[in-house]
Amino acid sequence: MIRVVFNQKGGVGKSSITCNLAAISACQGLKTLVVDLDPQGNSSHYLTGKTVQEMDDTLFDFFEQCLMISSQRKPMTQLIQPTQWDNLHVLPAHSELESLEAKLESRYKIYKLKEMLQEQAEIYDQIFIDTPPALNFFSRSALIGAERCLIPFDCDAFSRQALGQLLGNIDEMRADHNPDLQVEGIVVNQMQPQAKLPQQLVNELIEEGHPVLPVHLMSSVKMRESHQLSKPLVHYVPKHKLTGQFVELFSVLSE
Ligand SMILES: Nc1ncnc2c1ncn2[C@@H]1O[C@H](COP(=O)(O)OP(=O)(O)OP(=O)(O)O)[C@@H](O)[C@H]1O
Ligand SMILES: [Mg+2]
Repeated sequence: MIRVVFNQKGGVGKSSITCNLAAISACQGLKTLVVDLDPQGNSSHYLTGKTVQEMDDTLFDFFEQCLMISSQRKPMTQLIQPTQWDNLHVLPAHSELESLEAKLESRYKIYKLKEMLQEQAEIYDQIFIDTPPALNFFSRSALIGAERCLIPFDCDAFSRQALGQLLGNIDEMRADHNPDLQVEGIVVNQMQPQAKLPQQLVNELIEEGHPVLPVHLMSSVKMRESHQLSKPLVHYVPKHKLTGQFVELFSVLSE
């Protein structure tokens, strides 16, 4: 299964959701790969403890190699890094990824990621792709390469307004490039059950027929702590309520 976690809005929980679902998947014995397409490298750092500046072998090499006709290539096995957890690997981002964007775009390399993901899907049971907060070459490559799209939603009025546009963009990618792409659902993140407005927003989305997933993720300081320690929740606080919600969400997605 190749799954992209996407929302053009920043800070809605894409990297947190990507890494925590991937860590749970790996814990359940599934061979799992996280592909980090965001030059900020938050997922790469969360899963390895290293910053993008500290990594030699990254997605930069993959995309740079897509632009070269013949030269010594680094094999994917060199670019994909192990983590300290069994079954969990990461293909790290690089801070300079954006410097390749114009060339990749002008030379029609938008299907290269898909080809690579399909090769990796022979090896990995689950592939999770983290995306930058933009509809750019990299996130479009991911929407073309994925089978499913998960949309984190942060219960904010601006996010609510942007949702129509976001779903429209995904529909357009499906129509033009990837008929297999399914919107798996909207994941409500940082839910504060006591607050009225977020609940009202979620109810409106459901009434309008949007595919809101039944498991909502609560807001907890444990998330920030787990980022700081580079330890996904299932390893940091396995019994916490938010960890339980992630486990439940993964099982809903696996049905
Ligand atoms: N359920 C949660 N509870 C508390 N804090 C959270 C939760 N989910 C995410 N956060 C925090 O919100 C911030 C943004 O989360 P994250 O980096 O996952 O979002 P993002 O969509 O990947 O952001 P960007 O668009 O910049 O890549 C982080 O500091 C993270 O720790
Ligand atoms: Mg992120």
